[in-house]
Amino acid sequence: MRKSCRSISSTDLEAIRAAVKDQLPIAGLTHTFYRYPARFSPSFARACIEKFTKPGDLVLDPYMGGGTTVVEAMVSGRRSIGSDINELAVFVADVKVSKLFPAERRELARWADKVVPSIRCDEPAPQDSHVPRNMHLPEARWLRKTISLALDTLDEELPTSKSRRFARCVVLNVGQWALNGRKRVPTASEFRERIAGTTHEMLAGSRELNDRLGPKTTKPLLRKNDAEAVADDRKIQQYGLADLVVTSPPYPGVHILYHRWQVDGRKETDAPYWISGTKIAGAR
Ligand SMILES: C[S@@+](CC[C@H](N)C(=O)[O-])C[C@H]1O[C@@H](n2cnc3c(N)ncnc32)[C@H](O)[C@@H]1O
Repeated sequence: MRKSCRSISSTDLEAIRAAVKDQLPIAGLTHTFYRYPARFSPSFARACIEKFTKPGDLVLDPYMGGGTTVVEAMVSGRRSIGSDINELAVFVADVKVSKLFPAERRELARWADKVVPSIRCDEPAPQDSHVPRNMHLPEARWLRKTISLALDTLDEELPTSKSRRFARCVVLNVGQWALNGRKRVPTASEFRERIAGTTHEMLAGSRELNDRLGPKTTKPLLRKNDAEAVADDRKIQQYGLADLVVTSPPYPGVHILYHRWQVDGRKETDAPYWISGTKIAGAR
């Protein structure tokens, strides 16, 4: 079944065109929690949502990636559904739309300022059942150990699964900065300092998101699906027909490493799955 199409004024069309051309660096809200490859600009998603829908309408992104659409829909007072074939995308989007309680923020700040700086790389590494590909290479070995020690603190130091997921997203962000496509991997102390700075930046983004939410805001529904199966997803069906689809599917024939990083600029690692605690795409 189709919903009827809305017409759009030339002024609104002009606003969308301007948003498409927006070259400003991605900033604000929770958009910088993870540098998701091939993201579109939040201002493009915002312009489409504001011009084509009204508060309470339903927005769908069946290739949501890092969740730009659902974050913008949420702060615009629209209901939304984000879906992606990859569990890592669902993880990132979920952290970006989850509200934190003050106690969770306090504990996260304490983790970043007190717990992470006390990690010492001469401690024995925890036993991980999953060893990410290529993280044993000399360029990445110490980073794997530091990340492993940092992840090992989460259960004991953070009170809720939501705050632990937030902290995993911090480590994901900093791990990407430290490793992906770099020739010189930073030192352990640079890494620990970056964890503190990134945690505080992300907490500020999360507060900004909170401040923009109204009493009637609904959290987006996030699902892991092949786009072709979205219409068969029972939970999605319960929401009824979408008023607007805002999405950017992968381009045919263009190879983008959405969910892997490159050690030493070339050897692929699946470390993002290990850090986020998600399943490697295609794995059972
Ligand atoms: C260009 S990215 C989307 C980026 C997103 N607009 C953002 O701002 O972060 C495309 C996404 O499509 C997902 N994808 C690829 N094939 C898919 C499929 N068959 N069904 C659902 N998602 C798919 C990828 O995992 C990737 O996250």
